[in-house]
Amino acid sequence: MNENPADDAIVRKKSTPKPSSDAFVFFGATGDLAYKQIFPALQAMIRRGHFDMPILGVARSAKDLDGLRARAHESIEKHGGVDSRAFAALSAKLQYVNGDYGSQETFHQLRKALGGASRPLYYLFFITLPSHQTCLPPLLRG
Ligand SMILES: NC(=O)c1ccc[n+]([C@@H]2O[C@H](COP(=O)([O-])OP(=O)(O)OC[C@H]3O[C@@H](n4cnc5c(N)ncnc54)[C@H](OP(=O)(O)O)[C@@H]3O)[C@@H](O)[C@H]2O)c1
Repeated sequence: MNENPADDAIVRKKSTPKPSSDAFVFFGATGDLAYKQIFPALQAMIRRGHFDMPILGVARSAKDLDGLRARAHESIEKHGGVDSRAFAALSAKLQYVNGDYGSQETFHQLRKALGGASRPLYYLFFITLPSHQTCLPPLLRG
């Protein structure tokens, strides 16, 4: 115990783990917002050491994981520039669930994919829906 309570507070602050999530679940991974802003921001955070968790992209139009990686690469090339090390790290963290929010199979696949997260307890959900938002109810039910 330190004589100065402020020192105790500093020790507590240093030893308290930062809140973090076990996976970043990213609905709308093939969308325009993802292309222009989210993938470039993810690369920037990874480059600075501020982001370290699996990224689970959910959408319909990417054929497979390589297709989503290629789209992420193109998006970063056009919006900020690719940092090869940070992009390799992003690419390694990326997973892809292909499916429609209207289908239970999509959420079954999502649950399966989340099973691989290191400590499957806390998920950070990021949802970019088209502006008509008719897919919100099935997404919330799922
Ligand atoms: N674009 C921007 O610069 C921007 C800026 C600020 C705010 N926003 C807001 O961000 C939100 C998203 O905009 P956006 O431009 O990214 O829209 P978008 O280009 O239409 O993308 C929508 C995304 O949702 C997916 N999606 C749509 N319906 C789905 C369904 N039933 N099942 C599974 N996936 C589905 C699409 O997947 P597939 O295409 O693979 O089917 C796509 O990945 C909107 O609310 C918009 O107002 C956008």
